[in-house]
Amino acid sequence: MKFAENVPLAPYTTFRIGGPARWFAEAATEEDVAEGVRFAREGNLPLFVLGGGSNLLVADSGFPGLALHIALRGIAVSRDGEKAIFSAAAGEQWDGLAALAVQEGYAGVECLSGIPGSVGGTPVQNVGAYGQEVSETIVSVRVFDRCNHAFVTLANSECGFGYRKSILNTTGRDRYIVTRVDYALDRNRAPAVQYRDLEAYFKGRTPALPQVREAVLAIRARKGMVIVPGEADSRSAGSFFKNPLVPLADLGRIAGASAVAPESVPHYPDGKGSMKLPAAWLVERAGFPRGYVLGEAGISNRHALALINRGHATAAGILALRDLIVEGVRRHFGIELEPEPVWVGEQQ
Ligand code: EPU
Repeated sequence: MKFAENVPLAPYTTFRIGGPARWFAEAATEEDVAEGVRFAREGNLPLFVLGGGSNLLVADSGFPGLALHIALRGIAVSRDGEKAIFSAAAGEQWDGLAALAVQEGYAGVECLSGIPGSVGGTPVQNVGAYGQEVSETIVSVRVFDRCNHAFVTLANSECGFGYRKSILNTTGRDRYIVTRVDYALDRNRAPAVQYRDLEAYFKGRTPALPQVREAVLAIRARKGMVIVPGEADSRSAGSFFKNPLVPLADLGRIAGASAVAPESVPHYPDGKGSMKLPAAWLVERAGFPRGYVLGEAGISNRHALALINRGHATAAGILALRDLIVEGVRRHFGIELEPEPVWVGEQQ
């Protein structure tokens, strides 16, 4: 494996922002992954594992260690009656796998169509959209364990999946490098149509699997959540903030702060005394509408949760907008928004 020096990271991210990596290598095999870890350890360098780059904000000063780009390829399908295991290398594009599953008639990931990024990133933040999460279909995740310098397979139950979380982005954050993910899909399962946007799209009709994929792609495109080269509204890291979970008892106060009736506040009770609030709604109501501009940074014209690079934004510019929004939502609603993308580079 070749180790290149001072490679700009911006082209590897959907934000198109960020300085160079001091060292950069493409891991095309599991041996390469182990070699990259060794290189970093021997050089006493921090290691950053780069996947599809769709949920990242890279510092303007870049990354002072080794950026290891996961380029392992290959999808194997093992069929057993109406069920199948889709075993995909971490460097495969996620949407290629979603498209293949739908084309072969297997349900389980159709609502996750059009999500940018790679297969390896999906278990890390338990990618979810339109009522599906990868934790529902993942059987196991093959990882390189940097503590024991060995490959191991984590069963679904060992991954600690939650909303936008797993052990891979919490307790085991710098420990594991994903090299392969196995998904259990099913031809007998009906396509999932639970999310409000999808129900509205089909108006009571029961769609076939390919129609669900088409609908999800259309809805995502409407929100600027499908990458279109050259289109500023999709030059983002998707949702920039997580949807906060707050006590149900706060509903009246939140409605009051926005001068609307409680029933007009979009909220999703979790059945345990809390509710999830759409961060996009809070952002807009705190005075940051779609299309908001702060220098070269901005908010997408199509979705208030996507901070965008309007053309020549810097990471510092995006962070300035983040701070303005977090402070605004805190002041207006007393709610603390938490950014979703991973920060790469020196601590801010
Ligand atoms: N809304 C606004 N303004 C907007 C957009 C939305 O007020 O500009 C409000 C509306 O009330 C809307 C509600 O927010 O009904 C929910 O919006 P949406 O259905 O677009 O979903 P979301 O909660 O904003 C989440 C995920 C998305 C995922 C969609 C669909 C998070 C942080 N985001 O967004 O994931 O695609 O649901 O399931 O959970 C991502 O993580 O990058 C991502 C795009």
